[in-house]
Amino acid sequence: MSIIFEWDNSFSVANEEIDQQHKMLFELASSIGIDLNQQRIKKNIIVLYKYTREHFAAEEQMMQRISYPKFEEHKELHKNLITKLNTISAKPFDDDESVYDFITFVYDWLTHHILNKDMNFMRFARDKR
Ligand SMILES: [Fe+2]
Repeated sequence: MSIIFEWDNSFSVANEEIDQQHKMLFELASSIGIDLNQQRIKKNIIVLYKYTREHFAAEEQMMQRISYPKFEEHKELHKNLITKLNTISAKPFDDDESVYDFITFVYDWLTHHILNKDMNFMRFARDKR
């Protein structure tokens, strides 16, 4: 049982750097359910968690650089996910269902966030140029 996160062009925010980071997030999230060994799952979640923080920091830096008006709002969304990932990563992940729920949650969050929030931000960044 695994959910594969397929990045395709519909997720492109037309910025090479951010697209690459999003692809990486998809890859890391996909790797979580592949090996259903509790230790490996936890390790993969921590790797995802760390990379997510780095990616959010990069996005937030860009936002500040161009004075994105929804910076605070977007930053808050990032913070909420980080908190949630932190809480979730403490779970035991000792059954398929909890792993599946986690991956589904990450998938829904990421796809929705990229397609809506990140798209809005990148649109603003493009118009400003
Ligand atoms: Fe974002």
